[in-house]
Amino acid sequence: MANIVLGVCGSIACYRAADLARDLMRAGHVVRVCLTDAAQKFVTPMLFETLTGQPCLIGAFEEPERGRMAHLDWARQADLLLIAPASANTLNKLAAGIADDMLTTMALAYEGPMVVAPAMNPAMYSHDATITAMRTLAERAVLIVEPTEGDVVVGEHGQGKLAANSEIVMAASTVLSARSLYAGKRVLITSGPTQEPIDDVRFLTNRSSGKMGAAIAQAALLMGAQVTVIAGPSATLYPRLARVIHVRTANQMLEEAAEAAGEADMVIGAAAVADYRPVHQAEGKIRRKSVDIHLELTPNPDIIAALAKLGKRTVGFAAEPTMDLSEAKAKIVRKGLYAIAHNDVSNPAIGFESDKNQLTLILANGSQEVSPLASKLQVALWLLEKIAN
Ligand code: PMT
Repeated sequence: MANIVLGVCGSIACYRAADLARDLMRAGHVVRVCLTDAAQKFVTPMLFETLTGQPCLIGAFEEPERGRMAHLDWARQADLLLIAPASANTLNKLAAGIADDMLTTMALAYEGPMVVAPAMNPAMYSHDATITAMRTLAERAVLIVEPTEGDVVVGEHGQGKLAANSEIVMAASTVLSARSLYAGKRVLITSGPTQEPIDDVRFLTNRSSGKMGAAIAQAALLMGAQVTVIAGPSATLYPRLARVIHVRTANQMLEEAAEAAGEADMVIGAAAVADYRPVHQAEGKIRRKSVDIHLELTPNPDIIAALAKLGKRTVGFAAEPTMDLSEAKAKIVRKGLYAIAHNDVSNPAIGFESDKNQLTLILANGSQEVSPLASKLQVALWLLEKIAN
């Protein structure tokens, strides 16, 4: 049983927060609700107080108990701050650290895990300001339960509908059940592509945005781990609370990872490492000629296989162009892994660059399980839970 503070913002979806509060209580949690001013235009404190049997927080200066500071008390007592629906206004205030009402003041004083389920007009959801705010929150390891696409108010259609309550409850439960799973543990993650220079302006590389690695870093932080990421070149932002070491080539990735692995309890290889590098790197720029040229390549070191030899629990990824698991299974043995996450990269909705993913986790002992198709952070939470024990 956990203590959940449910923040409700002004959105037409806030009528669904009443059912959400109920669902969370049915799951065994104590739910206390904080309504923004805008939410009170749609729903009343009475509704939530009657449902939850707990006082509802509203104005920043309206203390239910005299002499107490509710925003600090609730922030300290909460195991989870869940904001659903989260309006564009509140999302942007949370990202900027603005504390001008009870909910945002409490959020600023709160140090635990946070889940946010946005709901708003699709144009507001796709606005640069909102996207930047969500990215900032994700970097702080806030779990965002994305809105779905569908009919929204005044006859419009697009992405902005509050996610299903079951999905929000599942996200909250995942975060709560996992909150201390990695407490005191150190997790090392390789992420993104490597670049192998041909000359000063060209390189060989693999497809990878680094999003999956960043999601694993966020998930591990949410679960209480200390996180180090050895990151190849990409535009993806990693969580600020992670130690991030930026590298370019596979050899650099191996060098940094081998040094960091000494202290790690678990190693996860999400990086798409270039398997070969040019034998010679030309100085300057190879000039164009109208004859064939040949690039001599030599194999790069197998980073995850080298790290697995250090005896830490080592989990690899297998980016495969098919759902056939045989190659992934062979990699477990070849690389000496505890487990491998098979990622079917032939499906453009998951895998490379996409915001969603679905994995088949195969353990060295032969057991296997398929994750839900969900955001990379949710899939990362699922993965870390499975490989913890
Ligand atoms: O970054 P995103 O755009 O979010 O995409 C995520 C992803 C698809 C890249 C990711 O989920 C994934 O599948 N990563 C592994 C990609 C890969 O290169 O797979 P592989 O089957 O070639 O390698 C198998 C394992 O060995 C991987 O853990 C890889 O990190 C590791 N490896 C491979 C070669 C090498 N020289 N050194 C390694 O450590």
